[in-house]
Amino acid sequence: MKKHWDNPQEHAMPQGVRVPASVQIGTVTVAPATVLAPMAGVTDTVFRRFIRNASVFTTGSDSAASVDATITNQQSGCGLIMTEFTSADGLSRMRETKRKRYLTYYDDEHPISAQLFGSNPDTLADSARIVQDAGFDLVDLNLGCPAKRVVACNGGSGLLKDLPQIERIFRAIRAAVSIPFTVKFRMGWNDKHIVCVELARLAEDCGLNACALHARTREDGYTGQARWEYIAACKDAVSIPVIGNGDIRTPEDAAAMVDITHCDAVMIGRTAPSNPWIFRQIAQYTASKEATGTGTYDHPADQDRYRMIRDYFGMLVDEIAIEEAAEAARAATITASGQVAREQRHRDCVGKMKQFASWFTHGVPGGGALRKQIFESKNGPAVLDAIESFFANRATVLEKEDAVAEVDETMLASAAAYCD
Ligand SMILES: Cc1cc2nc3c(=O)[nH]c(=O)nc-3n(C[C@H](O)[C@H](O)[C@H](O)COP(=O)(O)O)c2cc1C
Repeated sequence: MKKHWDNPQEHAMPQGVRVPASVQIGTVTVAPATVLAPMAGVTDTVFRRFIRNASVFTTGSDSAASVDATITNQQSGCGLIMTEFTSADGLSRMRETKRKRYLTYYDDEHPISAQLFGSNPDTLADSARIVQDAGFDLVDLNLGCPAKRVVACNGGSGLLKDLPQIERIFRAIRAAVSIPFTVKFRMGWNDKHIVCVELARLAEDCGLNACALHARTREDGYTGQARWEYIAACKDAVSIPVIGNGDIRTPEDAAAMVDITHCDAVMIGRTAPSNPWIFRQIAQYTASKEATGTGTYDHPADQDRYRMIRDYFGMLVDEIAIEEAAEAARAATITASGQVAREQRHRDCVGKMKQFASWFTHGVPGGGALRKQIFESKNGPAVLDAIESFFANRATVLEKEDAVAEVDETMLASAAAYCD
């Protein structure tokens, strides 16, 4: 995952503009009009529920909120979540039980959209039916993935060079399902082949209910700035909702995107793993701006980060326990291949903890030491222990720091630098 942006553009607070309170996508109301972008390897059910349910601040204006309370979309600030992309070919070939694992979601994830990729209209239509039958609220087609292995099979952004094939796919999926159908695409293959406006019109003609543009070409990868003017051009061209995506890092960025493009909703990807409060911050910013004319929002404190890491890791471990209980209910004895799968699942869980730890601890003084400890941990409980003791010790360190703050502040600065 690319963590940094090339020369991020700083956006001042736009006057009189807000992220819309809602957007209607076919029969589904998305409120507020914010979407968690699909991210392979990131937006699994645990992360999606984490964004929905665990992103309340324990300090600041949210301090009275109960961590265990059910949280509405309005409170979390995230109106729609999406699965990572799933291969239509794979899905249509899989056995029922394996399909269920790929399409796992929980009741509190609604509204939820499942994203598919592929190039064969019939297979994609079959998979869209599977998604609809699994109870998803929307189905989305991926026309943006730049990965070579996907493009090589004409999937993802590979299709951007073949609009007639896209039309066949659009029509096949549209005929197959009655749930809202959306598409997420890049601007085109490269600067000589920009097709986003044509594609948005095609989507509308074929009965799709919304489109989302990541405002870069396939050749751009993640370099340079997302070119929001192309989101504006799509918005001008169609009357179905247009969701803007690319380079939103702050609530100010989200409002600026709406200001510049008039898009109907904003979609956020890379910011979410390092700042899961982003949706909540956008909601706070919007509400305070409406009330007072000035947008303000809370910033995570140490204990917010601590709770965030602990909750997320706890949810990962719980999910494994749920999967294992389901397996045990299906088969009385664990086969050798079942045992291999089980061990792999535990390794994946620890791998995910390590990956997330590095995103989550950015900006935490001494976070480098914690990251090192987590990377050296052999299993889930060891990772959790490292986190517990880091934050417990940190509370003591902070108390001591407070006590000596009056004595020598520069010494403290050097100590913090030494720890990190
Ligand atoms: C690790 C990672 C995985 C991604 N996986 C998907 C995916 O499965 N489907 C998709 O449409 N886009 C995927 N994307 C692209 C994002 O959805 C989004 O379009 C892109 O990151 C730009 O938005 P951002 O600037 O808010 O991150 C992925 C991006 C990243 C960083």
